[in-house]
Amino acid sequence: MPELRGVILAGGLGTRLYPLTKVTNKHLLPVYDRPMIFYPLRTLVECGIREILIVTGGGNSGDFLRLLENGEEFNCSLRYAYQRGEAGIADALRLAREFAGDGSLCVALGDNLVEHSIAPARQAFESQGGGARLLLKPVDDPERFGVAEIEAGRIARIVEKPARPRSNLAVTGFYFYDNTVFDKIERCRPSARKELEITDVNNLYIAEHRLEYSLITGWWTDAGTFRSLLRAQQLAAETWGGRDAAAAPGRAAKE
Ligand code: DAU
Repeated sequence: MPELRGVILAGGLGTRLYPLTKVTNKHLLPVYDRPMIFYPLRTLVECGIREILIVTGGGNSGDFLRLLENGEEFNCSLRYAYQRGEAGIADALRLAREFAGDGSLCVALGDNLVEHSIAPARQAFESQGGGARLLLKPVDDPERFGVAEIEAGRIARIVEKPARPRSNLAVTGFYFYDNTVFDKIERCRPSARKELEITDVNNLYIAEHRLEYSLITGWWTDAGTFRSLLRAQQLAAETWGGRDAAAAPGRAAKE
């Protein structure tokens, strides 16, 4: 079996954070004492992933290369891909096909931060024998996310940003996929917001009865709106601030 590889999706225009994103990419914005993308990067490395593809886009993709270089500082090997336009999460992920080869992937959205290790979910994915595994988290505002509905202990369906959510279980931005994900992306069509939706890909796994889930322990947040960016800053500062700086994702800040 090829080693599990990682993908961080850091394309898109970040319009919900305009004008912060007018001259830079959302994932380069600061979250407490380091750039946003350090957090999902550290999460992937921490669960043992060593080969990671960063998918960027827009006018600032060169800045990722200058910031992260080849990945040595993060104890991993980095490669880069460029997404033209912002046609959705699944559209960005399709750029990882060659990188994945015959193997499986752990995919992280570049604006998602999680407190605890996702290593237990990795282990569960690797022992389930193919398919996909999502990480879910109960939230107070499920209408902002993909929402998973559980029936008889399994995910029965996922609805993207439902006006009236039928559960409080958000689909977070950490996904484990086997290699069939790329054929599933090809079967998807653009949604009303003109994007290839990762939720449609996940629903194709449900149709095959091959979608599992783990619940996230500790806190989880995205950082793609002003409010959630502020929340991410506060959580990161409370969790890794002060004397724990060296344990925080990425290089410890020089004091
Ligand atoms: O944060 C979790 C949520 O992320 C999930 O619950 C939703 O199911 C999922 O659709 C997504 O929702 P958002 O609307 O918040 O996604 P957003 O457009 O903010 O994109 C999230 C990240 O995906 C972004 O930080 C970079 C990457 N992305 C997004 C788009 C649209 C790309 O790389 N390329 C893209 O074209």
